[in-house]
Amino acid sequence: MVNEKILVLDFGGQYDLLIARRIREQHVYAEIKPYNQITVAEIKEAGYKGIIFTGGPNSVYEENSPYYDPAILDAGIPVLGICYGLQLIAYMAGGLICNAESCGEYGKTTIYVQDCLLFKDVPQENICWMSHTDYVDRVPANFKVIAYSENCPCVAMCDEARKLYGVQFHPEVTHSVYGSKMLANFLFEVCHCSGDWKMGDFVETSIAHYRKYLAGKKVLLALSGGVDSSVAAVLLHRAIGQNLTCVFVDHGLLRKGEGDYVENVFRQQFGVNLIRVNVAGRFLNLLAGVTDPEQKRKVIGKSFIRVFEEVAKNLGEVNILAQGTIYPDVVESGKGESAIIKSHHNVGGLPRVMRFEEVVEPLRNLFKDEVREVGEQLGIPDELVWRQPFPGPGLAVRVIGEVTEAKLAILRESDAIFREEVIKSGYEFMTDQYFAVLTDLRSVGVKGDARTYGYTVALRAVNTDDFMTAEWTHLPYELLEKVSNRITNEVTSITRVVYDITSKPPATVEWE
Ligand code: XMP
Repeated sequence: MVNEKILVLDFGGQYDLLIARRIREQHVYAEIKPYNQITVAEIKEAGYKGIIFTGGPNSVYEENSPYYDPAILDAGIPVLGICYGLQLIAYMAGGLICNAESCGEYGKTTIYVQDCLLFKDVPQENICWMSHTDYVDRVPANFKVIAYSENCPCVAMCDEARKLYGVQFHPEVTHSVYGSKMLANFLFEVCHCSGDWKMGDFVETSIAHYRKYLAGKKVLLALSGGVDSSVAAVLLHRAIGQNLTCVFVDHGLLRKGEGDYVENVFRQQFGVNLIRVNVAGRFLNLLAGVTDPEQKRKVIGKSFIRVFEEVAKNLGEVNILAQGTIYPDVVESGKGESAIIKSHHNVGGLPRVMRFEEVVEPLRNLFKDEVREVGEQLGIPDELVWRQPFPGPGLAVRVIGEVTEAKLAILRESDAIFREEVIKSGYEFMTDQYFAVLTDLRSVGVKGDARTYGYTVALRAVNTDDFMTAEWTHLPYELLEKVSNRITNEVTSITRVVYDITSKPPATVEWE
């Protein structure tokens, strides 16, 4: 399906996904592999047109620093090392790396480049994003310095004959003004890629592939109504029609009108074979008395799987599970454990506990925005394709304290008002996620001439690129005022509306 591809060899940097994304933006397919999970022989066998060594937090002389087989430099495949990647190439080829605070740089830095393929059509003086204290003090034999900065004698180097390049800065971040141009030069001038990776081809070739591959098989997919599972469902439906069964577990923790909307789109518009399981009562019973956020998440995650299993069993002969796993999920799950802040739950977590002959993941090579592009090409409504993220445990993590039907109803109404006003104001496109939270706090208010004692609802809106960090969105006062007026007027039991002005970190996006 892919004619040419670039390997992003990950040495533990933070930007591996971003690098791959930047390459795909140039219509060249890129895939990421941890440095210790692919050998030189496998790289040669796979026919990569070029390799990018990512950055990483280590120093090449540390004992357990990631290291790679130097034979890669003689494999005849162009290499671009970025930051640690540059230092590693220098080290592997016999150069000298030093550490000196005086040569360290952090942030936007002016660099001066020389004529070479990597810097074709890049101004001699330009701004790049740096983050390092180690630097290349002496380049290896056959390499030459092709860029420097005021503090750092070797900002980039190359061995043109072997097509080996290294840069100390990060071309993949937008602060490097000509970073995209440099990556394009590597792809097209050095690796001679043709740039023929297109999403349109992806849709047609995937449908054709799965039509053949899954011919005569029964496939089950857990549909949440989120972007990924929706796109996977429609794609597979186009491939195998009624042999795909989608199960939509309605746990009663969805936003206002959402369950009916999802059912309607998939059943009426696409004619998907959909089973909607209404288990709201069961989930509420299980959640009775549960106030600890992690406990709520666990109860919901477990029960979700149980319901799904029951439905699968009742369906009889279904051997294949389809999932909307996307590329960042694949890359993340290949990494080591990091501290668990929240046990995120989504339908992607099913198969480890369930027995299926096979799991198919038609979107596993795509980034989120590529998934959205596929969704658009498949004719899925914008409302679903551009849907903001919604946590698997649903409104249960937005009702602080015990979850009850009464509290859910209050939250659904408040949230619907907030979302309606944000959309009306056009601010929908200036914030990445926005929702209401029902706090467990009650306070005194006055309505008419009477004392009231009601709940406090919190509004949350954030701007973020990756949801790992986020800034609170500066929504206009007029909009907040309107939402506050409407909520306190239209939702009895709310006496107070507050706006959450905390970034992540230290807060998380969801309150629980
Ligand atoms: P936090 O609250 O961890 O949220 O800062 C970051 C992003 O993840 C979403 N989120 C979840 N998504 N299952 C999901 O699929 C979950 O359990 C879950 N919890 C949080 C959250 O809405 C935000 O977009």
